[in-house]
This record gives sequence, structure tokens and C-alpha cells, in this order.
Amino acid sequence: MSEFVIEHVRALQVLDSRGDPTVEVSVVTRGGGCGRGIAPAGASRGLREAVELRDGDKRYLGRGVGKAVEAVNKYIAPAITGMSSYRFRDVDRRIIEIDGTPNKSRLGANATTATSLAVVNAAADTAGLPLFEFLGGRLARVLPVPLMNVINGGAHAGNELSFQEFMIAPVGASTFSEALRIAVEVYKTLKELLKRTYGPAAINVGDEGGFAPPMKETREALEALVKAISEAGYRAGEDFLLAVDAAASQFYSGGAYLVDGRRLGGDRLLELYVDLVAEFPVVSIEDPFAEDQPHYFRELKSALRGRALIIGDDLTVTSARLVSEYFSGGAIDGAIIKVNQIGTLTEAEESVELLRRLGGKAIVSHRSGETEDVSIAHIAVAYGTGLIKSGAPARGERTSKYNELLRIEDYLSGDSRYAGAGAFRRS
Ligand code: PGA
Ligand code: ZN
Repeated sequence: MSEFVIEHVRALQVLDSRGDPTVEVSVVTRGGGCGRGIAPAGASRGLREAVELRDGDKRYLGRGVGKAVEAVNKYIAPAITGMSSYRFRDVDRRIIEIDGTPNKSRLGANATTATSLAVVNAAADTAGLPLFEFLGGRLARVLPVPLMNVINGGAHAGNELSFQEFMIAPVGASTFSEALRIAVEVYKTLKELLKRTYGPAAINVGDEGGFAPPMKETREALEALVKAISEAGYRAGEDFLLAVDAAASQFYSGGAYLVDGRRLGGDRLLELYVDLVAEFPVVSIEDPFAEDQPHYFRELKSALRGRALIIGDDLTVTSARLVSEYFSGGAIDGAIIKVNQIGTLTEAEESVELLRRLGGKAIVSHRSGETEDVSIAHIAVAYGTGLIKSGAPARGERTSKYNELLRIEDYLSGDSRYAGAGAFRRS
């Protein structure tokens, strides 16, 4: 096992998909295995997320990550060199220990995330295995349903849609590659439909590759999705299910939610969700209310009686403690899993494991500021979550994950299973 010993750790400042600096870490093991990890970055961040270190000086308009890079090279590298990458959870625990804060504010979650992913990728490379197999063993065979964010609003786009993400889930396919194909057909059909209806400016894309049309109302976006699905020759509600990420903390202000040009109280917003679930095949709603209003999550969950999943993101920030609290308290059916919200793969894994034990849903997710790092594709397959969010099927930082899932499916050559509609069913 001595080939897994970490010999070299090096961090570098690189760029993410928004042109912001981010942390990249490379790890080399004694056996010559190499692994790389790059930290993504969110735009609509939960208040309780692990802290991302930014330099705040003149360079890169304050967005530089020189301090986080230095934290890796000066503190993390000497502390983990000589440890076994095979025991990556011990490496993560060491990183947590030297950070010593409850929210990674000393080293920076961008530093710890990139290192954690680099270590496990180096271990997989040393073992001569793809990451999903290194993590999940031979039982890791389920390809996830992609929740594709094809209309962008909120903090990810320069339009008036309050909800941040309108997603299509191609469940009417028997393989991941077929699911990707039908989703691309709907994405292209949607593009033509939006151009026809709103003019050429409507097909500009937002941060996650979805279109950012000049729509004003939530219903307009959902109607466009249903129409595009049917124009492409598929059935909404059967071949495609819909999902939304309201990211409601972003439009909650002064005690009201600013939606569709109106100020709604929590009760009125709850009614809107119930109506939308009745009118459209929406099967999953993420962050329907602000993160400090969990009681409304609970009320909505009981009002919907299982007709749509309630998913925490800003509410739960990949923290096993928060996931456990809100799942047990009846506020959510599952949670978004983002390694950089908590800072290490080991801690993200704890949240996935907890949800599995409790019968909840784990949706492995990208961030709006992404990179060419494809680890999340492997993580989704490794833990058999059945669900992944990686944006629209456009823009390299989004398609890199979908392309990696194509490679994984090909590697498993017929021995894999596509999660399909069952991925949304509560067990
Ligand atoms: P973020 O948004 O990456 O900008 O935080 C993604 C999400 O809310 O799911
Ligand atoms: Zn979200």
C-alpha cells in the first residue's frame, strides 16, 4: 500500500467559468498516481456554508484566492504529505483538524475542497481505477438522472424571473446516453421556441448554460418547458419531469417574497407552489422558502402530500447535522450535495450516507461557478444517488460532467442501470 503515500501537493490559482480565480490542487503519490481537484464557487450561497477565502485586495477586483492557495502550500501540504491517499477520509480529518474552525474559515473551503478532491483522485489513479469505482466498488452501477437547468433566472441571469432554475429531467430513456440525447433535443427545441416568441436576445444563456429569456412570470417559464418537450416529440409528465430551484433566500426581503412582480407572504407563496405542482409535472422543488423559514418548508411538504419532493440546498448546506435536523423534522425529502458547501468529500459523504439511511434523496450538484473538474459525475455514480445537477447540456464546464457520465456508462458496457423516474420516488 506504500504506493498510495502522498509525496507531493501543490496548489495553483486558476479560473472558473465566470472568470473568477479559484483554487486548483495537484497531488502525486509514491506510486506515480496523480490527482487534481478544482474548487467551484456559488453565486447564491447559503449563509451557513463553509467559508470561501477571497483576497479582497485590488487584484482580480478582490476575487483573488492567493491566501487559499498559500493555505494549501504552506499548511495543508506539509500536514498531509506522507499520509496514505488510500485513507482519504483520514486525510480529510487531518485537514479539518488543522483548520480547527467550524466552517473552514481559517484555511478556506476553496482550499480544503480542492485538496480533498485532489487526494481522492490521486488515490483512484494510483489504484488504476476510475474514481467512481474506487469510491463505490463494483456495486456502483447506477447512472443518475440529470436535472438540467435550461431556463435561468434569479442570481444566475439578467432577467426578471425570481426563481433561479427551471429544470427538465429526462426520465423516459433506458440509458444515460439516450436521456442526454432527448434532453439535448428539447434544449434545442426550446431555443427555437424562445427565439420565435421573445426575439433573438432570448437565447442568451445564463451562468449554468440555460437560456435567460425576458420572462416576467414563473408560469411562462414552466409553460415554455412543457411546450418545448411536446414540440420535440416527447410527453411532459412521462418522458420528462420538471423541477425548480426557487433559491428563495435570494428574493426574500423585508418579510416578503418578490415573485412575479408581487410581494407575497410565505402563505401565498406556498399556495403558488401547490398550484404549480397541480398545473405542471413539477416533481421537485428546491429551497422553496428562505433558509431561515424552515417552518414553511414543513407546511409545504405536508400540503403537497408527496406529489413533489422538497429539497434543501441553502437550508442544509451539505451539513449532516442540518440535513438530519430538517429531514427528521419533516421539512425536506432530501438535500443537494455540494462538496464545497462543507469543505471535504468525507463530510459530503456523511450527508449522502445519512440520507440513504433515512430514505431521503441526495442530489449531487455543481455550482454556478464551475470548472473542468468532473469529480461530481463520479461521486453521483459512486454513491448511487440517482440524481445529479450539472446545468444545461451546453458550456464546457457543464457538459464535462455529462460527457464523463457517458464515459462511465461506456466503461460499464451494458452492466449499468439508468436511474429513470424511480429516482424521484420516495422510498
Ligand atoms: P450557486 O447556485 O452555485 O450559485 O449557489 C446553485 C444552486 O442554488 O443550486
Ligand atoms: Zn439551489
